Amino acid sequence: MTKSLIAASVALALACAPLAQAETVTATASVVSEKGPKISRNLYGQFVEHLGRGVYEGIWVGPDSPIPNTRGIRNDVVAALKQINVPVVRWPGGCFADDYHWRKGVGPERKGSINSSWSNAIEPNTFGTHEFMDFVEQIGAAPYVSVNMGSGTVEEAQEWMQYMTAPANTAPGAERAKNGHPEPWKVPYVGVGNESWGCGGNMYAEEYANRFRQYQGYIKTYSGPRAYKIATGPDTDDYEWTETVMKRAMKWRPNATSPILYNTTRPLMDGLSLHFYTLPTDRWEKKGIATGFDESAWISTMRRALLMDEMIRRHGAIMDQYDPKKEVALIVDEWGTWYDKDEKGPGGLWQQNTLRDAIVAAVTLNVFHDHADRVRMANVAQMVNVLQAMILTDKEKMLLTPTYYVFDMYKVHQEATALKLGFKSPVYQYGDVKVPMLSLTASKDAAGKVHVSVANLDPNRDAALTVDLGALKVSKVSGRVLTAPKMDSFNSFDAPDTVSPKAYTGAKLSGSSLTLNIPAKSVITVELE
Ligand code: AHR
Repeated sequence: MTKSLIAASVALALACAPLAQAETVTATASVVSEKGPKISRNLYGQFVEHLGRGVYEGIWVGPDSPIPNTRGIRNDVVAALKQINVPVVRWPGGCFADDYHWRKGVGPERKGSINSSWSNAIEPNTFGTHEFMDFVEQIGAAPYVSVNMGSGTVEEAQEWMQYMTAPANTAPGAERAKNGHPEPWKVPYVGVGNESWGCGGNMYAEEYANRFRQYQGYIKTYSGPRAYKIATGPDTDDYEWTETVMKRAMKWRPNATSPILYNTTRPLMDGLSLHFYTLPTDRWEKKGIATGFDESAWISTMRRALLMDEMIRRHGAIMDQYDPKKEVALIVDEWGTWYDKDEKGPGGLWQQNTLRDAIVAAVTLNVFHDHADRVRMANVAQMVNVLQAMILTDKEKMLLTPTYYVFDMYKVHQEATALKLGFKSPVYQYGDVKVPMLSLTASKDAAGKVHVSVANLDPNRDAALTVDLGALKVSKVSGRVLTAPKMDSFNSFDAPDTVSPKAYTGAKLSGSSLTLNIPAKSVITVELE
């Protein structure tokens, strides 16, 4: 047979072969209790740092920009963020927080400084306290401010708190009023240092604990709600840090009965932070790329994302020893994917955001829901143009990433009560790596609506999940699904809707039995009423 004849008969054989059906895996789950913890809306918090194009260009374009803005802040970005109900924004860093001297960012004279945390970039200081507060007000979020412990002083931190929160008839309040804001701001969340074990001072845990004890006494508000103080917690699996800081910094000294001290029964800290990033590999020097990856990088990214559960369990178990009443929250104030630098991208930790990032976001939010009794705030890194961003901008253009859409689909869980589920997932395996195929969460909101969200981590197989809803009384189901043709499908400025939610038609409700057909590599959220 000639070569062309062979090719033709192979093509004919393929055409006549029955179409390969994607395998559908079946699974079951049940609602075992409606009395789970409340899912704090703060689990949907965000993080913005003076890094790359995160603040400048991403949020701040200045009042004279041709890009539509309100007092210098991009209108398109504000509108997109309002849509997903961002509850809280952490600022100004990150490593930059321990490099930041707030006075340079207030008043009419803004001198530039050097951002020594990030490539010695020029920091123009045009986006300072007033601009940040304006931004969070525009998007309807609360501010979470990190004070500088690494290169600052207790006095500088104290004066910042006074500047932000003291009434206008005090000297710091009058200075703020002169700079355009007579009303004190509410500053409900304050971070005391950032990564003090690394970029924020390279301290040992004992040293940090002692410094935290001193700082926290001067971190107070002078009007509005008291400041909720968040101590620097561990990096990833540094359980020793958690142990030491909880042991040495959580409580007042045993005989702290001075009459000027108030409420010595409350812990010195309200939260302990945890930073955990999802890399496709275990190596910072070769993390893996954001697009054009293979299935082995896909599954290892999923495996690493799921480690969030182990981190929270193990840090939580240590916290339980010192704080059995769970008065101190675990605050995951930096999380998300982190890939190798894209040489063709604009730099500054910019990375493309694909369907893989969307699944990581869903899986991580599901883990937070599972631990909502201890984890009461989380801040994805970062909001615009940096790491696992919600939004990418290019001059006047803006696009919403697959991660953004997960936050949009999941916002229905904010402030709802988590439902406890009985569920054992089928396995998804590639090579030697095995992970659960499905990741599942459910909640009931104040209006009685039930929401179920599922991520299918398997890029090849669909799933048919039957959920026994128990005593829940529902009769209507609707939903949205997020998926795309490829594992690394992403939204570009030319094709901004490649990965965007569509109406979901794969649900069937029959009495208390809900069946969901979940496409491979997808996230779905359904509403039951
Ligand atoms: O989010 C980027 C950086 O990651 C932050 O500045 C730092 O806190 C962490 O190491």
